[in-house]
Amino acid sequence: MEFFSQASWLSGCGSSSEFAPPELFVKRIVLKKSVKSAVWKLSARGLVSPYINGKAAAVELFLPGWTDYRKRIPVREISVGHLLENGENTLEVTVAPGWYCGWISRGNYPGGKVAYGRTHSWAGELTVAYADGSQEIIPSDGSWCYSDKNILSYSDFYRGERCDYNVVPEKFFPAKTVPAPEQELCRYDAPPVRVVEVLEAQEIFRNADGSYTVDFGKNIAGRTVLSCTAAKGQEVKIVHGEVLNPDGSVYTANLRSATGTSIVIWDGKEHTYRPEFTYYGFRYCQISGVEMPMDIHAEFLSSLSEREGFFECSDSAINQLYDNIICSQLGNSLEIPSDCPQRNERLGWMGDIQIFIKTALYNFAGREFYLKYLDDVVSCANEKGDFPLFVPFNRPEVFAGTAGWSDALLSMVWELYRFYGDKEILERYHPALSSWLEFLNQTSDNFIRNASRFGDWCAFDNSTPPEFVATAFYARAAKMLADIAGILGDEALQKQRMVLFNNICKVFTDKFTINGRLIVKNQSAPIFALAFELLPESFHAAVLEDLLYDIEIRRQHCISTGFLTTGLIFDVLSKFNCRDTIGRILLNKKCPSLLYPVLKGATSIWEHWDGIREDGSFADPAMNSFNHYALGSFGSWFYEYAGGIRMAEAGFRKIRFEPFPLRQLDFVKVKFRGISTFWQWRGDDLYWEIDTPVETELVLPERNETVIPGRYCGVSKGYINKC
Ligand code: BGC
Repeated sequence: MEFFSQASWLSGCGSSSEFAPPELFVKRIVLKKSVKSAVWKLSARGLVSPYINGKAAAVELFLPGWTDYRKRIPVREISVGHLLENGENTLEVTVAPGWYCGWISRGNYPGGKVAYGRTHSWAGELTVAYADGSQEIIPSDGSWCYSDKNILSYSDFYRGERCDYNVVPEKFFPAKTVPAPEQELCRYDAPPVRVVEVLEAQEIFRNADGSYTVDFGKNIAGRTVLSCTAAKGQEVKIVHGEVLNPDGSVYTANLRSATGTSIVIWDGKEHTYRPEFTYYGFRYCQISGVEMPMDIHAEFLSSLSEREGFFECSDSAINQLYDNIICSQLGNSLEIPSDCPQRNERLGWMGDIQIFIKTALYNFAGREFYLKYLDDVVSCANEKGDFPLFVPFNRPEVFAGTAGWSDALLSMVWELYRFYGDKEILERYHPALSSWLEFLNQTSDNFIRNASRFGDWCAFDNSTPPEFVATAFYARAAKMLADIAGILGDEALQKQRMVLFNNICKVFTDKFTINGRLIVKNQSAPIFALAFELLPESFHAAVLEDLLYDIEIRRQHCISTGFLTTGLIFDVLSKFNCRDTIGRILLNKKCPSLLYPVLKGATSIWEHWDGIREDGSFADPAMNSFNHYALGSFGSWFYEYAGGIRMAEAGFRKIRFEPFPLRQLDFVKVKFRGISTFWQWRGDDLYWEIDTPVETELVLPERNETVIPGRYCGVSKGYINKC
């Protein structure tokens, strides 16, 4: 598609240095007629921030967005008619390295290599529609100028930002025209990054060195906004971090080579400082160089904003745990679903979203956001059908066919289909998924695969052998793709894939069981086997018994699941109706448990169950993020089981209401899209309610019927013995 009719690609001095400064481009225009509306189409190899007459022209950040730049460069459109005036107008565009040539895409390349390119550039067309019906196009071209100096000497996702208000552009040079990208320009309609919440300071205290620590109350991804005046030449330093050192200063060791730091040199005048080309992962910031009182707040940034699910129960710690999942999802949804927002990663690690996707889609309306990501996943596949470990793919050597990571496309397509009931999603990705299954066939040896680089990553006891994990995921792929073939109406293919599934299961059973029990004794292995239905039914009771032994006796209801099984444990235990065990796991506060981080003050989901140890010390900073949603992937259970909203037809066009009341809770209240459910113990009886906009099967001990949309309630006596 032709996006621009007249625009040229522009660059300034084109510095490709490590700290390439953002560059400011300016053009003055005179509009002689009254403006009806105007649209500014912008694209960049890098990030752009457009201004008109000194005012920000976009509420969106990090335009035009992050795609697989090796193949597609995004174009965004913003409406700017309200900013244009009759007469003289000043257009300004600042361009920064961002994901294209910032440190995130060059830091891991040896020998100065880069993933996409070395210098940033941009193109744009402002189309002005006049009241008289005529229109005018103002393209980026050689008539734009760039300034020799910028107040930002660097602004980078990993390195942070340095801003000097004393810098005044002195000279302007004609912008340089550079070749347009060879890659396809693509329209980009996925939700952009925006401010989704403003957080006021909860507490500000002074440190021994004279700096101040500010607590915003919640571990977010975003930026601080500081309005103040400071003396000319005064350096103001704002260091962001997730937790505090014992002396009240901000802990930054776990950011690794990311700085989390903005440095601002003041000029004696009043300014409101907020970075535009970087963000930080933080709950706290430490400010030096300014005196109290200071006007500071934080802005929570995310591409997701529309909540679809809500959960509340009688236990405030569990409510906090649920809120922590929401917080980590928001903070890890800036342009792509990422692992964490603070350290030198912030990458689309596929294992994390592979397991989190179901919870993600209950929480937020995510169709466009995740489908956009899937296009990047497909575009990053290699010719063998394999996927990298993270997408967009911006580092060398990350193809590995890794179980649980490279499976993300399959899990995501499947859940997106289930949540939105749209077969086109299956059709669109079926070719890539079929190639993935073929790749799995090619890289297996008599139905056994061993590509599991990370095992059940971050499990307290990551002892499941790679062959077990990889073969389990291979079988799951065969079964899921058989189901997909069935939905798409290809019975022959469905049968063929079911034969494959059965063959893998047979070899799996032979290899990993003795006398009807799994040979691997931990929590992860039986969860994989039962969740993916890999064993003959006659084995289930014994395998469940071993799982319960590990949970109840060996670990006293502590959890030892990792990234891949934390999203499955409650589903498995619920399927076998182990209510009491679930209740005890859920309410357990000993380390490692779901509530242990909450007890330690967590406001987001941690990468490790014991990110802060019992003695208050921090786990190894080499890998200790306090904002990773993967271990929050059990969150779907709150809706499906606790709230009893079970999908009966894709797209929730029909549901079952089958609550799973735990004796450990007094009540549970859930909302999802237009459905609300509630239950509460009344002595030994259960009072329940559902308000449903779709046909619903009521599955309660004394009531089993299908009802039309409406509000229903009742009291059930039949639960107590089952708890
Ligand atoms: C990331 C993870 C990711 C993992 C792969 C980590 O460094 O932060 O979330 O899935 O590597 O093992």
